[in-house]
Amino acid sequence: MNYPAESGRGIVHGDGLFTAASSGVLNPSYAINGEEIMTTINTRIEKQKVPLLDLNAQYEPIKDQIKQAFDEVFESKQFIMGPKVSELEAQIASYCGCKHAIGVSSGTDALVISLMALGIGPGDEVITTPFTFFATAGSIARVGANPVFVDIDPVTYNINPDLIGVAITEKTKAIMPVHLFGQVAHMDPIMALAKQHNLYVIEDGAQAIGSEYKGKRAGSIGDVGCFSFFPSKNLGACGDGGIVTTNDDQLAENLRVMRVHGSKPKYYHHVIGGNFRLDPMQAAFLLVKLPLLEQQHEGRIRNAAFYDQQLASPIVTPVLKEMSSDDSQSSRMIYNQYTCRVSNRDQFQAHLNDYTVGSAIYYPVPLHLQSCFNSMGYTEGDCPESERASKEVISIPIFPELTQDQLQYIVDVIEVAPSALNDRRHLHRTEDLGRSSNVIL
Ligand SMILES: Cc1ncc(COP(=O)(O)O)c(C=O)c1O
Repeated sequence: MNYPAESGRGIVHGDGLFTAASSGVLNPSYAINGEEIMTTINTRIEKQKVPLLDLNAQYEPIKDQIKQAFDEVFESKQFIMGPKVSELEAQIASYCGCKHAIGVSSGTDALVISLMALGIGPGDEVITTPFTFFATAGSIARVGANPVFVDIDPVTYNINPDLIGVAITEKTKAIMPVHLFGQVAHMDPIMALAKQHNLYVIEDGAQAIGSEYKGKRAGSIGDVGCFSFFPSKNLGACGDGGIVTTNDDQLAENLRVMRVHGSKPKYYHHVIGGNFRLDPMQAAFLLVKLPLLEQQHEGRIRNAAFYDQQLASPIVTPVLKEMSSDDSQSSRMIYNQYTCRVSNRDQFQAHLNDYTVGSAIYYPVPLHLQSCFNSMGYTEGDCPESERASKEVISIPIFPELTQDQLQYIVDVIEVAPSALNDRRHLHRTEDLGRSSNVIL
């Protein structure tokens, strides 16, 4: 067990009384006696405000470039599609290691258009995870197909491939894994099942652009990859936007046709598509941000490493599951969120609020229990790990511009959270599940 005294900062006094010293802030003392933890929380931490995400810090250094990029669009009068969209598509295709990228109006529309282009519709089933943003399953339902929910791996929060096989029926047309929080789902067994049963794989990589699985980028493994440029994503636009990646020439062509109402040539419609076009102003904005993306990922990864080291004792921190021991096949998580587990979440979040530290619950209700899917007949207990996660998870600030002072403040605040201390008992359970900072499968 990793007690605060072993965390490498602070001073251990005599019989285990621990006082952390940091940036002139007074922390509480913990009296540690074996597995029992008695605390007297008598805290005085100088309050500061740390938002969950600070878009201002991201925008300020590049605002002149952005204004210039917008100007170029205004001057060109290319307000629909045009060179900015094509340029972004070429750069994202190359960034994701794919032959094609097709810019679309949002991450949700990336999913919808992919399902449409693959011919998935009424009566079909698509297997996915219930522990995700609503758009994943919502898109499946919107094309008339049925989402079939398969529970998650409690360590990664991604769909558990071991449970997919039994969910496959003759109506199944596709598997839609989600790379939640910026970690790619365990794709090898998913791809093997898809091959065996002749299914499409649609990667919902909305939160995971640039994340890697065995050396491959998200969006380059399945038939299609779907990404969101929602402003809070690692590559966020200044409004809605999304992109679809694929290595399949025919599918890329279908997607391009679907994006403009199924029109080819113009005003001739052999299929029904929609207006799924990416706004060139968003493309212009993203072209300024894309060269900075790796640096942004690195900042998040660095912040995550600091939290991993400092917080592994008071709460359950996220785990990147290495899928291979071969370095050339390593995985990378890009931490769109840094999501922890705590046993008494309401109390924990209230404590963060008291200290003006931003946090969010992704997601409080798993999708199989959303009332709009009531008619599908799912009940509590059908996906126990998703249900448990939805009661325990909480995401804390991880954005790359966080200063060391802010990071330290958040750690100090969490260390004095009453519910964090209770979590030591909870930790035993997750250790039983095989949690460690680098699990090799
Ligand atoms: C997992 C997941 N899928 C899909 C989406 C939808 O993306 P958008 O908001 O761009 O429509 C999101 C966005 O939050 C997401 O997190």
